[in-house]
Amino acid sequence: MIWETVDHYDALSERAASIMLDAIRQDARTVLGLPTGRTPVGMYKRVVALCSREYHCFRDVTTFNLDEYAGIPSEHPGSYCTFMKRHLFDHVDLQPERSHIPNGNAADLAAECARYEREIADAGGLGLTFLGLGSNGHIAFNEPATPFHSRTRVVALSESTRAANATFFADSPVPTHAITIGIGTILESRQIVLLASGESKRNAVARLRSGEITTQFPASALWQHESVRVILDRGTVPDFGTT
Ligand code: GLP
Repeated sequence: MIWETVDHYDALSERAASIMLDAIRQDARTVLGLPTGRTPVGMYKRVVALCSREYHCFRDVTTFNLDEYAGIPSEHPGSYCTFMKRHLFDHVDLQPERSHIPNGNAADLAAECARYEREIADAGGLGLTFLGLGSNGHIAFNEPATPFHSRTRVVALSESTRAANATFFADSPVPTHAITIGIGTILESRQIVLLASGESKRNAVARLRSGEITTQFPASALWQHESVRVILDRGTVPDFGTT
């Protein structure tokens, strides 16, 4: 695991965006795993700004989002589909048929999860996957106690996760369930970049850094992967600059 600590959120966003665009320059057909949440917003903003200069960045890229809420339509203002359109998809030349998000409103959610896994496999697996970090250590929506071999499936969201995401659901209740790719699916990515920013992630970052591997802390599964880069800003590290 490679650890990088940068000075502030903008630097984290810039670093993450340059890793994404370098991967696309090296392989125009790269397959990306994409996160949502507050943390990657700056990365997407930077990617969009750079791609307006370097048009065609995303022409041959394939993307798979990590998760989506269950029981709300994709057009819902709180859906991850809406998030991705707002922050990335509406601004780059990604082909709609190559951008994948689980359909959380499918009539048969189990069949939808199996279909999503098949789509990832048909694309050759995830190449470079970006992850955020839940304050309870969740990655995508894999909450504590998730087995490390888990695949795409429907999950119940913890109360702390629902509370953390309540601001995205001003006018309606936060969904209780979601579809998430599994930890096993994530670990099959060829490369992984985990982003964590701000004081609310201090405890989670410290626990990850401790090196203890336990299903009670889902992000610790990343220690079992050979190519993980963790990018932090100083807010996540209490003694930044003194060690
Ligand atoms: C959300 C998402 C995760 C995200 C995490 C952190 O619930 N499902 O994919 O990484 O929680 O979110 P944030 O970046 O807003 O702290």
